[in-house]
Amino acid sequence: MLLTEDLFAQFNKALDQELHDIIGEDLPILAKIKTYVMESGGKRVRPQLLLLFASHFGVYDANAVALAAITEIIHAASLLHDDVIDNAQDRRGKPAGRILFGNRQVILAGDYLLACGIWRLNRFENQRLMDVFTRVIKELAVAELLQMEYEQNPQITPEIYYRIIYGKTAILFEAATLSAGIYAGQVNLDALEKIGRDIGFLFQIRDDILDYFGAHLLNKTPFQDYENGLFTYPVIELLNRAEEKTRQELLHFMTLPWEKRKDKRVQREFLLFLERHQIKEISIYKIESLYQSILQELKNFQEDEYIRLIKAQLAKLCQLAI
Ligand code: FPP
Ligand code: MG
Repeated sequence: MLLTEDLFAQFNKALDQELHDIIGEDLPILAKIKTYVMESGGKRVRPQLLLLFASHFGVYDANAVALAAITEIIHAASLLHDDVIDNAQDRRGKPAGRILFGNRQVILAGDYLLACGIWRLNRFENQRLMDVFTRVIKELAVAELLQMEYEQNPQITPEIYYRIIYGKTAILFEAATLSAGIYAGQVNLDALEKIGRDIGFLFQIRDDILDYFGAHLLNKTPFQDYENGLFTYPVIELLNRAEEKTRQELLHFMTLPWEKRKDKRVQREFLLFLERHQIKEISIYKIESLYQSILQELKNFQEDEYIRLIKAQLAKLCQLAI
């Protein structure tokens, strides 16, 4: 049995090789963006989750690593595009791809990455796997468009919010766990799909919360979602449970013009407003309850070292010292 660090080092080495093989270098600019993507220091949670389940099912092999690399490639392509849409300056504490290479270049490089991923997927000659990943790519675009439609739009409901975060985040985690099961010929696919989906929800809601209460934990600039006029978990939650006066105050903050929303003083005031309404505590409780339901769902799988590692990674994710 390998130590945790050795296992993750082994996954990462195999992933690096596979990413290198799958992503082409048809032009010097594409070669540079490939290096940027491979070295940009993401945590690779989606491929690791896939490989932990593949190992649990006894099918950790070159094809499982290729599936894992495909999840990372789709994710990387979506982030290159996302930073253009969000006008982001940095990602993971480093300049965003668009700052280094230009908006027009990273849009096309994102398309190129997706094509490389689909090319590799095609070689599985497996319709189920093709369906899973092409649906992910469709839903990513749908979710981003839906999110745009509801920027600074008070008509947003919790249902619409959950549809957005399903499409922009949860679906790719769902594809990671589901594709491991499909590849392993498992029958218990519903349980596997649900675990991926809930981990994705946990991941995005955590991201939404940390944008207000703990951006340092993500190595991110705080208040990005607020500046972008997005109704994310803390706002949706308060909007849904507050009485009319508080709702109006909240909507006032959310519909201020952009120059005001990026003003540090306004941001501090908004943070105090959220804290006064216990949104931080409510958010922490939400993370804890999602964590508990995932632990419950994991009981469908015989405990072994890989399931224990999934639990340990989840526990780390839920330690919100904010
Ligand atoms: C990050 O959300 C955004 C995503 C995970 C999805 C982005 C999807 C697209 C841009 C659609 C195009 C899709 C493809 C496949 C090319 P965030 O902005 O809330 O998180 P962040 O703080 O990490 O930027
Ligand atoms: Mg973004």
